[in-house]
Amino acid sequence: MIKLQKIRCEYKNNPIGIGERRPRFSWQIISKLTNVVQSNYQLQVSQEEQFECILWDSGKVKSNDSVQVVYEGPELKASNRYYYRVKIWDQEGRASDWYTQYFEMGLLSHDDWKGIFISPEDESAADISKASYLRYGFKVTKEIAIARVYATALGMYELHLNGKRVGEAVLTPGWTNYKERLQYQTYDVTELLKKGENVIGATLGCGWYKGDLAGWVGKRNYYGDKTALLCQMLIRYVDGTQQLVTTNEDWKCSDSPILFSELYHGETYDARLEQENWATAEYDTSGWKPSHEVQQEISIVIPQEGPSVTRQEILKPLQLLITPKGEKVIDFGQNMSGWVRFKVQGKTGEKILLKHAEVLDAEGNFYTTNMRSAKCTIEYILKGDIAGETFEPHFTFQGFRYVMIESYPAVIDLANFEAIVIHSKMEETGVFTCSNEQINQLNKNILWGLKSNFIDVPTDCPQRDERLGWTGDAQVFIRTACFLRDTHTFFTKWLRDLKSEQFENGGIPFVIPDVLTHIIEKIDEKEVDHSSTGWADAAVICPWTIYQCYGDKRILEEQYETMKGWVKYIQSQVGEDLIWNTGFHFGDWLALDAKEGSYFGATPNDLTATAFFANSVAIMAKTAGVLGNKEDEKLFLELHTSIVKVFQNEFFTPRGRLAVRTQTAHVLALMFQLVPEEHKKRTVDTLIQLIQENDGHLSTGFLGTPYICQVLSENGRIEEAYSLLLKDDYPSWLYPITKGATTIWEHWDGIKPDGSMWSADMNSFNHYAYGAIGEWLYKVVGGIDTSEVSPGFKHIVFKPQPEERMTYAQTELECPYGKVILCWSVLEGKMFIHAEVPHNTTAEIHLPQTTKEMKKVHHVGSGKYDFEYLLG
Ligand code: BGC
Repeated sequence: MIKLQKIRCEYKNNPIGIGERRPRFSWQIISKLTNVVQSNYQLQVSQEEQFECILWDSGKVKSNDSVQVVYEGPELKASNRYYYRVKIWDQEGRASDWYTQYFEMGLLSHDDWKGIFISPEDESAADISKASYLRYGFKVTKEIAIARVYATALGMYELHLNGKRVGEAVLTPGWTNYKERLQYQTYDVTELLKKGENVIGATLGCGWYKGDLAGWVGKRNYYGDKTALLCQMLIRYVDGTQQLVTTNEDWKCSDSPILFSELYHGETYDARLEQENWATAEYDTSGWKPSHEVQQEISIVIPQEGPSVTRQEILKPLQLLITPKGEKVIDFGQNMSGWVRFKVQGKTGEKILLKHAEVLDAEGNFYTTNMRSAKCTIEYILKGDIAGETFEPHFTFQGFRYVMIESYPAVIDLANFEAIVIHSKMEETGVFTCSNEQINQLNKNILWGLKSNFIDVPTDCPQRDERLGWTGDAQVFIRTACFLRDTHTFFTKWLRDLKSEQFENGGIPFVIPDVLTHIIEKIDEKEVDHSSTGWADAAVICPWTIYQCYGDKRILEEQYETMKGWVKYIQSQVGEDLIWNTGFHFGDWLALDAKEGSYFGATPNDLTATAFFANSVAIMAKTAGVLGNKEDEKLFLELHTSIVKVFQNEFFTPRGRLAVRTQTAHVLALMFQLVPEEHKKRTVDTLIQLIQENDGHLSTGFLGTPYICQVLSENGRIEEAYSLLLKDDYPSWLYPITKGATTIWEHWDGIKPDGSMWSADMNSFNHYAYGAIGEWLYKVVGGIDTSEVSPGFKHIVFKPQPEERMTYAQTELECPYGKVILCWSVLEGKMFIHAEVPHNTTAEIHLPQTTKEMKKVHHVGSGKYDFEYLLG
């Protein structure tokens, strides 16, 4: 029996608001049989569920594609629902049934928008961070078939319909390059409408649009100084007619109880100012003011591309601490992003004041200095409801584990507090556990780094006055992220922003969305503009990684010119000799071989920059090959050969000494295949010597750390790789765990062995960058990888490299084709391997530590495989 499951359109189950004009379909095959390969598929699309009138029929297509198969039918219309069904045949000609799903298009062009942007604010509001209410009444006269709302804002919005909150997303419309791209959200509101009088309402706050951004440079109103709402409701009646309700100047506005709300700083809410039922038909709007139109090009409005940010988990307090200073502090036991929801009962006018922190200082007191200018404060003024009142903030979030209760009008009962964890909603895909509990904690910390920082944009950190989409951080972490969560659409959206922010000369800003170019001019006395090596290379590395992990060719097509533009930019910088020794670079940022007091590691920029240049060009050659662009492929291959030659001439002595004696220099040269073959052994030996000279520790920063274990294991030094991983004294991945870390730190020594802190100006305790070691854990310890030529795990490479200090590892990955599993364990001199291969894929299983007699590599089709053998 051949069955199908997880039938998706654009990665979603029955999605509404699709913006892709040629959506793609995926499905997974389930069957008790083994070695199942799809031989044919058929897809049909229709406007009705019975498929009596078929809009597009792919016919029976001879193909084993079951992931992202592109719709090739006639143009799809805005706001229309389409049913699609899929059927497949396996290699023996066994057919599945038809499986039917649907998708619904969003508004596709600016002509589809009939509403205008309306604002409750005027010029005087530029420095004001309050939130406002907007509302509009309308009549529903007939029986409704379906109703949709399309909405977005300059600023942040929450929608209400007849007194109920619409949708589960928070921090909408999310953050994009608002100068060119502003996402709208689509909501199914069929159930919220009623016959007769209805009211739609919105709360509008500053958000990324108008609030403080890059707090340390004191910039606000980056995109504009007035919040505004754009909204359109489509009601389809059972009788076939339809009605539109849109934003217009008849909408009324009013102040709200949110007196202040800023992403970095928190929220002030005066519950005495609540206007009960303000978004219902019964409410009397006298005193409300008219709203007015704001001139804003509708052409920037685009359908939502990434996943929404939603409430994901609720954490209960671990304990209430009284610090040596006498502060009352709730410990939630986990560093995270989100906010506190609390209940209180008290008198009108009484106050609650909460502050947020990631860590306690050496004495155990509440520590906020590393938040820099971010105030992370929640203030709530009670209305005095005898039944009690509950609050959670609207347009802000905090990065925290500890909450200090500075003021609370009642006895603190922990049952009245909970932490709401928020992040982009991404399917959980990867799980890794092993016999070492510290490594398991490290893996948890990596996951929490992802959860805390994937808040619509991949950010460096979620707590201080920064929270920006730093390209370098995203680039080093992306592969790890793709294992833990389905980040496909999350990165697709971010990469489209990157594309839109690329400068004409091909340069790439430091952060995406870009809020720093021309705003920060100097870092550590060095002049800066944009396009730092290892950071801007995100333009090339990220699309390639997404292609590798999900087999999505479209992302390469879409990003190709941007990728190429970045390489062209480097070419314009390097001149004839191909050594990149100009411009500003973060380099091996925060490496421990930096000069005292500096953030810049000791590896010189010309080496780092030329190495990344070579790597990006190598990826370009592969990308051109995948896209069938033979001419470019040849040019990039030639360019790559030249850079490698130049690199070797410049940085290697004729006898094979790498002229720069840092760990990162050796790591990058090995990682990017820049070492002359005959000198590889010497280079690896020197790297190991450098580690030994550092007492067995790494000294690498942002650029060397992600790859150090990988180059060791790839070059036959698995023992040394494990030794680095398993160190738990400073500096090491496990050192923070000995200090109780629940997330990855920005600095190896965020909290020093003596309990003191690294300088507060750059000391985040929730920075995922060093969590990039996850990639190595999953591929090498866990043993699951995709083949580069059959990406997206169409061909799976199982190549675990166990080492005697661990006795088992279990790794699972929900890849586009289904579940991939690899477990290994060692017991009494015997190795046990269990592998599971999903249908419609193939795999190669490399058995570690086998005896000579035993076949080392097994090529298999879908199924479950067990091996048991005495260690060789
Ligand atoms: C961020 C980093 C970022 C860096 C640039 C910092 O302030 O937090 O993670 O990549 O600046 O080097």
